[in-house]
Amino acid sequence: MNKTIAGFSKMTKDEKIEWIAKHYFSSPDAAIEIVKKYWNSDVVLQQLHDEFIENTITNFYVPLGVAPNFLINGRNYTIPMAIEESSVVAAASKSAKFWATRGGFKTTVIATEKIGQVHFLFAGGSEKLVPFFNQIKPSFFDETEALTKNMRQRGGGILNIELKDKTDLIPNYYQLHVTFETKDSMGANFINSCLEQLAKTLKNKALAYDLFATEEKEIEVVMSILSNYVPNCVVRAEVSCPVEDLKEKHIENPEAFAQRFVQAVRIAEVEPYRAVTHNKGIMNGIDAVVIATGNDFRAVEAGVHAYAAKNGTYSSLSHATIDNGHFRFWLGIPLALGTVGGLTGLHPLVKFCMEMLEKPSAKELMEVVAVAGLAQNFAALRSLTTTGIQEGHMKMHLNNILNQFQVTNEERNVIKSHFKNETISHSAVVNFIETLRK
Ligand code: MEV
Repeated sequence: MNKTIAGFSKMTKDEKIEWIAKHYFSSPDAAIEIVKKYWNSDVVLQQLHDEFIENTITNFYVPLGVAPNFLINGRNYTIPMAIEESSVVAAASKSAKFWATRGGFKTTVIATEKIGQVHFLFAGGSEKLVPFFNQIKPSFFDETEALTKNMRQRGGGILNIELKDKTDLIPNYYQLHVTFETKDSMGANFINSCLEQLAKTLKNKALAYDLFATEEKEIEVVMSILSNYVPNCVVRAEVSCPVEDLKEKHIENPEAFAQRFVQAVRIAEVEPYRAVTHNKGIMNGIDAVVIATGNDFRAVEAGVHAYAAKNGTYSSLSHATIDNGHFRFWLGIPLALGTVGGLTGLHPLVKFCMEMLEKPSAKELMEVVAVAGLAQNFAALRSLTTTGIQEGHMKMHLNNILNQFQVTNEERNVIKSHFKNETISHSAVVNFIETLRK
């Protein structure tokens, strides 16, 4: 069967689903049924979601959970988390509760600068380009005035424009390296619009510049785009307490626990294989809040991992010390987030999450997101260095296995009470279900 098609995007939603069902499914009717089961009966709401992207056929559910009891800078938060991984919300809640009685989380936004670049080629050499750039620099600000007016009124705008010589990397390659402040918006559209105007100004001014030879006047702009690497848009989140206060169930010897915890972080600082998994655990918390608040988690992921490798080796984003009997655990993380614009004003559940967070500014959201990452990391390291990770994971995973086997409520109760004192593994649960059903 020919599985290529022209004009797919022009087809109606029903036609698209039928085409897919016919071309890829052994039971087309069942495929259509499952896709339509996830349509929202509120047609206006469904249309809103349909129009977020191209070729929408249905909705893909991810659970939205909440983690209460987060004490951040003396304020209580219930944090929304959109994530499919079974143990993440439970782990965040556990950490929140643990730290709420030990002073809570403290955060500081260190900087909020964002970066965009115009990448271009110029054949005339930097000795000609530098004076040209210095002469036309005021025009860059003048010719973006209309675009930056609103942002300037909110206290943001273009902070700086630098010329960077990259000819040691690629012949004739230079950049306009531009620094922005975008206040409560993530700013991607604002930054990209400004950059495209800066590129136009650059080209036009070069054409009119007398000191360039004719063949040098044609500056070739390769592209103009924001960078998702934001090492100057950084937030720090921290927890600390006297080592003896770490005592709890599973932490009978707080001194030994703290030592082992710090050792585990140290391993992630020096060993990239471990650092990637360690940071993945941090991102479990970060991404879940970033998604729930309608922000771009791919941008955050890309920027965070680049930051984790900023010293030349991929390393831990979090750090821990014991100093004079005091335990300290913190992370510094770049987060370019917005609380206005984009999906934040459009998606009803994003609006719901923002209201639950008491309508945070972008800086406050950076703080909450960083805390979710640190809490997640604390929970993972606490399990890893005490009971092992599988105990908690498998407890949460038990539900998924039971759902997969479509157990009745009665069976569920029997199985859960059996596994209260037994080691949970996929095969042990399956065997038990089979025995139960014999
Ligand atoms: C699982 O999603 C995340 C962990 O592997 C993180 C870690 O190892 O630190 C538990």
